[in-house]
Amino acid sequence: MTKLLHIDSSILGDHSTGRALTADVVAHFRAKEANLEVTHRDLVAQPLPHLDMELFSQFGKDIPADAPRRDEHVQSAEVLAEFEAADIVVIAAPLYNFGVPSQLKSWIDRLMIAGRTFRYVPTGIEGLIGQKKIVIVATRGGIYEENTPAAAFEHETSYLKAVFASLGQEVTAIIAEGLARNGGANRDAILAAAKDKIAAL
Ligand SMILES: Cc1cc2nc3c(=O)[nH]c(=O)nc-3n(C[C@H](O)[C@H](O)[C@H](O)COP(=O)(O)O)c2cc1C
Repeated sequence: MTKLLHIDSSILGDHSTGRALTADVVAHFRAKEANLEVTHRDLVAQPLPHLDMELFSQFGKDIPADAPRRDEHVQSAEVLAEFEAADIVVIAAPLYNFGVPSQLKSWIDRLMIAGRTFRYVPTGIEGLIGQKKIVIVATRGGIYEENTPAAAFEHETSYLKAVFASLGQEVTAIIAEGLARNGGANRDAILAAAKDKIAAL
């Protein structure tokens, strides 16, 4: 059994490009893997609260039945367990205000647990979760690729690569950018190129 975790984070509902593309990625893996179990977590439909000191201080601990905010602690533990159990993780990462949606940031804040998912070593940081396949679908209105004027403003794929490198993971990024350029004139070609990359996963 191969476990795939599908993370959506676009606020644009049926108008979201990233939601459509992550669905294509999941369909691709369904066709490829006979025994695929898919868990879909929609971070907009079911938002995680911002991480705070109370939640952070209880990470990885047994939560007593009468603990204050028990549901939120349990939710953090479920999110982490889902991620740890996954062999493949497909993440929609729309570019909002030069970064990832805050809903996605809240999810990442549930995964980064020193001593559990990574540890500090003399040379830096080391992942503790084995090897997963991580696929990021990055959707962007503008263009931020290397050597373009706005490259330094891109804090979405670059940020996610840093996060997953810290967890010992390599990332495959499907980038659909320039979607809003020239009134969306190149949209179809951009999506076709993204679908080609998905087919090659
Ligand atoms: C709140 C918001 C902020 C955005 N900020 C940016 C931005 O900083 N740079 C950019 O190129 N596009 C920006 N866009 C455009 C999105 O990147 C584009 O619509 C993309 O398709 C989003 O993915 P989605 O359709 O899956 O939500 C923004 C869109 C929204 C709704």
